[in-house]
Amino acid sequence: MEIKTIGVIGAGAMGGGIAQVAAMSGFEVILYDVEQSFVDKAIHRFSAHLDKQITQKKINAAEKNTVLGRITGTTKVETLETADFVIESVVENLAIKKDVFTKLDSICRSEVIIVTNTSSMSITEIASATARPDRVAGMHFFIPPTIMDVVELTRGYYSSDETVRMIKSVAGTMGKQCVEVKKDTPGFIANRVYTPLLLEAFKVYEEGIASKEDIDAAMKLAYKLPIGPFELADYIGLDTLKSGMEYFESELGPSWRPPLLLKQLVKAGRLGKKTGKGWYDY
Ligand SMILES: NC(=O)c1ccc[n+]([C@@H]2O[C@H](COP(=O)([O-])OP(=O)(O)OC[C@H]3O[C@@H](n4cnc5c(N)ncnc54)[C@H](O)[C@@H]3O)[C@@H](O)[C@H]2O)c1
Repeated sequence: MEIKTIGVIGAGAMGGGIAQVAAMSGFEVILYDVEQSFVDKAIHRFSAHLDKQITQKKINAAEKNTVLGRITGTTKVETLETADFVIESVVENLAIKKDVFTKLDSICRSEVIIVTNTSSMSITEIASATARPDRVAGMHFFIPPTIMDVVELTRGYYSSDETVRMIKSVAGTMGKQCVEVKKDTPGFIANRVYTPLLLEAFKVYEEGIASKEDIDAAMKLAYKLPIGPFELADYIGLDTLKSGMEYFESELGPSWRPPLLLKQLVKAGRLGKKTGKGWYDY
């Protein structure tokens, strides 16, 4: 099947960016969220990004209109009926993701592949909410999806070779390199390796060993990281990070428990860049 239209579910930090990448790669895009204002905000961000590209003389106004015209925003889930490939990117909550997959399974044509952009959770369990587990897999983008050129491809227990082949093809058209995760395990590769670093950075701060600024500076300068752990946490979204850590804790053990201060920041509504305040103020 030729993939012309990609459905993106969830118009948040990741879904909005993924929709943007898909449209810029030539796909028609249906961007769905539960509230029109979320969809509008994502399209507005995309438009502003394209304006910047016009200023930088990378594209012209006509090209902007063409690319933007490929995105249809909607709050009507039935619209996904016409999608040839669907990328789920709703909040990091297993129950919500399973609900979304069950709904999509009843709407999308039977041959359509539905992938999840979960950053930590079981692909097999998410796929179990559908009658097409062979056409479900993990396709994990990184923030911001417009810039980060890798996706983690994770098979669920039943994911078929054809599904994997199609995901690689879509990722290739989007200019992303796929890395394959051989076992469906919490956090796949990158988050499994990087989350302990974040946890340790938060602990070093909580114990009063150093300021956030100095921890970020040390990690950037000592290891040539482009961004420090507190800065990255604010980019990721502290609510998303906390949910991921809670899932890791339940699956991998107590050493992955989100620290008290992170929980307090989330309770205070300081979710990172997306709310203008997180570890830092923006
Ligand atoms: N933030 C990151 O750095 C990052 C990186 C890679 C993957 N992810 C994963 O991407 C997913 C989304 O994360 P995000 O950072 O974009 O979160 P976000 O909070 O910015 O956006 C989530 C969006 O999902 C929408 N949503 C919630 N329930 C929905 C439903 N039932 N149907 C449709 N939309 C619904 C919300 O309205 C919101 O717009 C999560 O699974 C997360 O783990 C996040």
